[in-house]
Amino acid sequence: MDFHQLGNTSVIGLQWGDEGKGKIVDLLTEHFDVVVRYAGGANAGHTVRIGHEKFALHLIPSGILRRKVRNIIGPGVALDLEIINTEIDGLRNRGIEVGKNLQISNRSHLVMPYHKKQDRLNEARLGADRKIGTTAKGIGPCYADKMLRSTAFRMGDLYRPDDFRRRLAEVVEDRNKVFAALYGDAEPMDARKIADEYLAYAERLRLHVADTTMSIHDALARGDRMLFEGAQGSLLDLNHGTFPYVTSSTCTSGGVAAGAGIHPSAISSYIGVVKAYATRVGSGPFPTEQLNATGDKIRERGHEYGTTTGRPRRCGWFDAFSARYAVEMSGITQLAVMHLDTLGSFPEVQICTGYRHRGAPLRLFSPDIEILAECEPIYETLPGWDGDLGAITDFEQLPAAARHYLDRLEELLGAPITLVSVGADRMATLHRESRLEMAST
Ligand code: GDP
Ligand code: IMO
Ligand code: MG
Repeated sequence: MDFHQLGNTSVIGLQWGDEGKGKIVDLLTEHFDVVVRYAGGANAGHTVRIGHEKFALHLIPSGILRRKVRNIIGPGVALDLEIINTEIDGLRNRGIEVGKNLQISNRSHLVMPYHKKQDRLNEARLGADRKIGTTAKGIGPCYADKMLRSTAFRMGDLYRPDDFRRRLAEVVEDRNKVFAALYGDAEPMDARKIADEYLAYAERLRLHVADTTMSIHDALARGDRMLFEGAQGSLLDLNHGTFPYVTSSTCTSGGVAAGAGIHPSAISSYIGVVKAYATRVGSGPFPTEQLNATGDKIRERGHEYGTTTGRPRRCGWFDAFSARYAVEMSGITQLAVMHLDTLGSFPEVQICTGYRHRGAPLRLFSPDIEILAECEPIYETLPGWDGDLGAITDFEQLPAAARHYLDRLEELLGAPITLVSVGADRMATLHRESRLEMAST
C-alpha cells in the first residue's frame, strides 16, 4: 500500500494546534482530487513551504497550491470575507490560480466586524488573568450567533441584499447598545457601511459560492478522492478540550462530517499530526510546558511564533498522555510526526507518559482544568541525537536515538507513524510506506 491508495482521509491536529497540518495536507494533496476545510476560520494559520516560497493560509484549503485540485470551504467554517479576499489577491499576485478551483459554501457563517470587536472587547474585559488568549478573529462571537440563529448571517444571505440590509440594521443597533452598556464602548458601528462593504465582497466572491454539500456528494459518487483539512487541535476542541481555554468548534474527527456535509463512514483514514514536542498559544493549562532554557531553545530552533498573530508560542516536552487521549477521541489510524529536526541537539529528551494527580497516577487523561491544575507530569528520559536531520531522505538514515524516540511515541500513542517531518519544506519528509500496512483503514 502507498499513500496513493488511501481512501477519503482527514488530517487532524492532536495537540493545541500548529502541529504542521498545512504541510501534511500540501504533501498528500498530490494523491487527492478535492481538499475540504470544514471547521474553524481565520484563527487557523497553515504554513506551506515549497523551496524558497512560503505560503501562510488562513481560510483557503492548502490544496490551492496544486493545480487540478478542487478546494472547498464547507458550511462549518466561520468565514471572514475581508481575510479571504486578501488571501485570494495574495495568491493570485503570486501566480496561483484561484477561480473555479475554489468553492465556498453558501451556508458558511459570516464573521462580521462586530464579532471581531466583541472578541477584542471581551478579552480586554476579562483582563490578563482570565482572558482566553483568542486570536481576536471573532470566531467565538460568530459561532455564538450561529447557535442563536436569529442574529446570524450566512454567505447566501448576501445575495438577498434588501433583506440583508434590513436585518443587519437591527442586529447592529442592538450590538451598539450592548457594547456601550457592557464594555463602555463609545464608537457605535454603522450598519450601512458594513452592508456596503459586505455586499461588495459578495460580488467579488460570486463565482466561488455554491452548494458545496451537493459538490461533495457528486464528488463522492464519482469516486473522487477527498482530503479533509483540519484546523486547530484536539485539545482546543469545544467539547473535549481544556474548556474554557478552547476554540468554538469541533476539532476532533467528529467535526469533519458535520462541518463538511459528508457521512462519517465515507472517511476511512484519519491522520493525526503531532509535533515531536508540544506548543500552545494563548492561555490555559499546559502540563509539560518548559518555562526555562529548554522551552526557549525549542522556540528558537523551531521558530515557534504564531502564523496568524505572531505571538511567541509556549513550548514544552511531548505529552504522550494527552496525545493518546486525542488519538482515541478521533479514531486516528496513522500519525505524522513533525519537527523531529527541531528536537535535535538536546543531550536528553523527555516524554510525558502520564500524570500524577494528588500523588496517584491518573488512569486516563482528563481535559478538566481543575484536575489539570493538580496534575504533575510523569516523565521518561530518552537519549537525544545530534546533527542536521534536514538533509536525511530515508527513515533508516535517522540517528538510532531519533528512531528509538519515534518507536516509543508509536508505542505510547497506539498508532503507526507513517510520516516523519525533518524540516519545513515539502521535500523534508520521510515516508514510511511499510508502516501504512499497519494503519487500520
Ligand atoms: P498548522 O497550523 O498545523 O498548519 O501549523 P503551522 O503552519 O501554524 O505551524 C507549523 C510551523 O512549523 C510552520 O512554520 C511550518 O513551516 C513549520 N514546520 C512544519 N514541519 C516542520 C518540520 O518538520 N521542521 C521544521 N523545522 N519546521 C516545520
Ligand atoms: P491552526 O489551524 C493554534 C487558540 C488560540 C486561543 C484559543 C481560542 O493554525 O492550528 P479563538 O481565536 O479560536 O477563539 O482562540 O484557540 N487557537 C489556535 N492555536 N493554532 C490554531 O489554529 C488556533 N486556532 C485557535 O490561540 O488559545
Ligand atoms: Mg497554525
